[in-house]
Amino acid sequence: MNKTIFITGAAKRIGKDIALTFSDSGWNIIIHYNSSKQEADELAAQINSKNPDTAKIVQGNLDIADDVKRILSEVEEMFPSIDILVNNASTFYPTPIEEVSEDHWNKLIGSNLKGPLFLIQGLKDKLKLSKGSIINITDTNLTKGVPNYSIYSAAKAGLEAITKGLARELAPDIKVNAVAPGAMLEPPDVTWTDEQKNKVIENIPLKRMGSEKDIAETVKFLAHSEYITGQIIRVDGGRSL
Ligand SMILES: NC(=O)c1ccc[n+]([C@@H]2O[C@H](COP(=O)([O-])OP(=O)(O)OC[C@H]3O[C@@H](n4cnc5c(N)ncnc54)[C@H](OP(=O)(O)O)[C@@H]3O)[C@@H](O)[C@H]2O)c1
Repeated sequence: MNKTIFITGAAKRIGKDIALTFSDSGWNIIIHYNSSKQEADELAAQINSKNPDTAKIVQGNLDIADDVKRILSEVEEMFPSIDILVNNASTFYPTPIEEVSEDHWNKLIGSNLKGPLFLIQGLKDKLKLSKGSIINITDTNLTKGVPNYSIYSAAKAGLEAITKGLARELAPDIKVNAVAPGAMLEPPDVTWTDEQKNKVIENIPLKRMGSEKDIAETVKFLAHSEYITGQIIRVDGGRSL
């Protein structure tokens, strides 16, 4: 029987690469999206044309508790088991302290922290049955403090704390780890100038940005690892050193 991976925010970019990487290994893929319906449909079609009936899609806004409940009830019926949950979806934008509002708080905490926590709560029994894994995608930049990103940073730091706490709470049945990317892709809808890119690269010991593949391969490594839990794997070219 094929194993199943459920990836949030999987219609594009890093989530999409994780989906394609696991599909190449014969897994069933649950592609979650919020607004990128066309991209999610196209990705599912691409996967199903190669491996028929192995990709399904589910829509929902992780800020909204009722959406999370609906996502959970829809994914329940999709495949016989769920072996891996990847909390990849994320909202990312600056919130200088003078401009912080409750709406910013709700959006950044909703997608990066609250949604992931309640997905874990709703899927833990299925993951227990499959002796599965939870892989949370965080951010390596937190280690040094990021000006103007206090809410996003708090959300990702919270997700790392949840990773460690639940690694103990859900052991020995479920492994819980995080992958913390460094500079992989430019933020969505932003194109950096060469000068901006060079400034980022200057601070990376390996002297280049990473790629979606670096994250997907690390998720795959964790998926196959039997003896790692509660760890934050920094995939950042040494940037956090
Ligand atoms: N890119 C990097 O260099 C980098 C660096 C550090 C950390 N990371 C982390 O790596 C992960 C993937 O990065 P990425 O750049 O590929 O992510 P991204 O493009 O910024 O976001 C991935 C998806 O998250 C979904 N999303 C956003 N808000 C949502 C909400 N309220 N409810 C449900 N889904 C929501 C969006 O889905 P729709 O498009 O369907 O709306 C989006 O396509 C993220 O967790 C990110 O924080 C990335």
